[in-house]
Amino acid sequence: MNSNPLSTRLAGLELRNPTALASGILGYSPESLQRIAEAGAGAVVTKSVGLTPRVGYPNPTVVQANCGIINAMGLPNPGIAEYASEIRYAKTVLTVPFIVSVYGYSAEEYAAVAKAAATAGADAVELNVSCPHVKETGSEIGQNPKLLTQVIRQVKAATSKPVIVKLSPNVTDIVEIAQAASAAGADALTAVNTVRAIAIDAETALPILSNTRGGLSGPAVKPIALRCVYDIYEKVKTPIIGCGGITTWKDAVEFILAGASAVQIGTALAQKNPAVFQTINRGITAYLKKKKYRSIKEIVGKAQRN
Ligand code: FUM
Repeated sequence: MNSNPLSTRLAGLELRNPTALASGILGYSPESLQRIAEAGAGAVVTKSVGLTPRVGYPNPTVVQANCGIINAMGLPNPGIAEYASEIRYAKTVLTVPFIVSVYGYSAEEYAAVAKAAATAGADAVELNVSCPHVKETGSEIGQNPKLLTQVIRQVKAATSKPVIVKLSPNVTDIVEIAQAASAAGADALTAVNTVRAIAIDAETALPILSNTRGGLSGPAVKPIALRCVYDIYEKVKTPIIGCGGITTWKDAVEFILAGASAVQIGTALAQKNPAVFQTINRGITAYLKKKKYRSIKEIVGKAQRN
C-alpha cells in the first residue's frame, strides 16, 4: 500500500506531492529552484527558454491588480545553448522532477529546444503554447489546433522525455484544443496560462505595461482556471496539472476534485513566500484524513457530475 497519501504519478513523473512551481516565477537558477524544492514543492518548472537569447520588453513589465498580477515580460531568456549547462548543473542539485518550459516560433524550433533541454537532463519539457502577448509564438500556436498538433508531434519525435502542454484560457473552446493536444501525443496538459488583461494609469491616461497588454494571474483567474480543468477532465483522458490562482490548500483540493492530478503554484509564491508549498501540502493531508481518503488519487475528478 502507498504510505504517502500525497504522492502522484503523471506523465511518467513521480511526484512526492501534487504541488509544483509554475513557470515564470523564479527564472532559471538551479539554486533558487532547489530552494523551492526544499520548501516543499513536488516539482519545479523553469521560465520559458527559446532557441536564441531574447531580451524581453522594457519596464514596466509587471503591475499589481486587485486580485492578482498582470505581467508582460516578453519571454526574456538566455537561449537554450547558454542554458543547457545550467540544466546539467541543476540535475546535480535538484531533488525533485525538473521540468524545462520551452517555446519557439515554429514546430522545428520547439523540437530543437525541447531536444536540447532533454539531452542536457530535463526530466520533462513543458511547451509554452499559451504566452498571451509575444507575437508568432505562445498562444498564436496554442489557439490553433493544426499548428499545435504539428508542434507536439515534432517535439514528441525529437525526445522520449514526457511532453507537457501548457494551454491558454484565451480560446473559445479549451476542450477542442486539449483534445488536439491529447491526440497529438501530449503526456500531460497544464491548464492554464494567464488571461489576457490590461491596466491603465488614470493619471497619465496611458496603459501601464510597456507592452500595453499582458496576462493576469492570481486569485482573480482561479474560477476560470478551475472551469477549464473541469471541462477538460470531462472529455479528455490525458492527465491535467491545474494552474491559476492557487493560493490555499482548499484551492488545490478544488482543482484536484475538478480533475487535476497535480497543481502549479506561481503568483501565490510571489505574493507570500516559499512556505506556501508546505502549508498547502499540510492542508491537503488534513483534508484527506478528515474525509477518510487514503490518497489524492481517490479524489481526482470527484466533483464531476457524470
Ligand atoms: O512575458 C512573459 O514572459 C510571459 C510568458 C507567459 O505568460 O507564458
